[in-house]
Amino acid sequence: MLANKKYRDLSDNNTFAGGFPHEYFIWLRKENPVFWHEATDKTPDGEGFWVVSRYKDIIKIATNPEVFSSDRGGIREGGGTAIKDEATAGKVLNQTDAPHHRRLRTLVNKGFTVKAVQKLHHALNTIAENLVNSLEIGQSIDFVQKISQEIPTQAICLVLGVPTKDRLQLCDWVNKGIETQSESIIASEYANKIRKYGQKLVQMKREMPTDDIFSSITHAKLDEDGTTLSDYELRSFFSLLFPAGVETTTRSVSGGMLAFIQNPRQWNLACAQSGFTKSMVEEIVRWTTPSCYKRRTASCDTEIGGKLVQAGQKITFWEMSANRDERQFDKPFIFDIFRDPNKHLGFGAGSHFCLGASLARLELKIIFEKLTSRKIRFTLDGEPEWVPNNRLVGLKTLPVKVEAAK
Ligand code: HEM
Repeated sequence: MLANKKYRDLSDNNTFAGGFPHEYFIWLRKENPVFWHEATDKTPDGEGFWVVSRYKDIIKIATNPEVFSSDRGGIREGGGTAIKDEATAGKVLNQTDAPHHRRLRTLVNKGFTVKAVQKLHHALNTIAENLVNSLEIGQSIDFVQKISQEIPTQAICLVLGVPTKDRLQLCDWVNKGIETQSESIIASEYANKIRKYGQKLVQMKREMPTDDIFSSITHAKLDEDGTTLSDYELRSFFSLLFPAGVETTTRSVSGGMLAFIQNPRQWNLACAQSGFTKSMVEEIVRWTTPSCYKRRTASCDTEIGGKLVQAGQKITFWEMSANRDERQFDKPFIFDIFRDPNKHLGFGAGSHFCLGASLARLELKIIFEKLTSRKIRFTLDGEPEWVPNNRLVGLKTLPVKVEAAK
């Protein structure tokens, strides 16, 4: 099919170098909403995969884990939730199915409820206030570096009990890993560094329990017989949480700001409100959808949108495409902070619904609340650059100038 010039290689990160290829997905949703993407020289494992782009089909897949596995399916050995088969399938929270998934999820859920993350409110509020107060009228900044990255990294360090001195080093490894093609040796070197750091942290928590979510997970009893999570499970959970918590939220903050710059009327409307409301946060998540696709594996022969899917085949579904589906959203390409209803799939759906959604929502609310209450506005001060990555779509740089509100 890719021999046909109309089709683009979704396994090549360069396809995403200018941001998410929306035009292409508009065409796919209309002409070929469930299609077999043949392997190219960029495709991991040298094997094709299904591409599903409509909202309704995606919901069906995400909410049917018996048929569409996050672990493995059919007779294949590898699995997981990225196009590339991963050795961690079946071992890490997001790459497990019930009943193992339910057990792990129950254990970590407590740390991420709305109530639990509210405990971080005061600390995050202070961080955001200091950040926003440090902005000066007339100043030129890279919004990603100066603002977007700060709140999520500081938040996840609080959650995981990472000492402040290690924060920047960890972020650097995460960023460098994301910028490289996911199956490259360099990317796995960075993933290894993060894993090794996770192991060191697990050791620290075991020896000296601290007052953070990761420490309580380290000591939590998994079963009645008192088993705790193994070192392997804990460091894998750390390696999942750190990038999952930082990269996604950072990209939502930057992408949200770019949307406001391109839609100044929406910025003025947000500034005129007494707080940054739920609907504004949700629209930013819909609009940016940083975690733009997921993969599942068919555990038996099945059918999606009239196409026959065989057991063991890879299926990718594209939440970013679902969030712009004309069949689901009224004027999906309009950024509307009062959008209602807004049942977006930015945080996924079903049993793997984002564990960190309450935390991400709180972070977005706090940072934009501070920004919109300072009587300032932002204008572009150069060309924004996108991260060339098909898994996490978002801005690498956002050069802006801080100006007084009109
Ligand atoms: C705007 C920010 C965020 C977005 C857009 C986002 C998006 C997502 C999505 C789409 C999934 C579903 C995965 C799947 O179906 O396979 C997911 C799962 C997950 N997210 Fe997030 N996420 C965000 C922030 C966070 C934060 C702050 C954390 C951690 C503190 C986090 C941790 C996780 C974890 C651990 C899972 C796996 C849950 C499971 O498999 O049961 N996320 N996220």
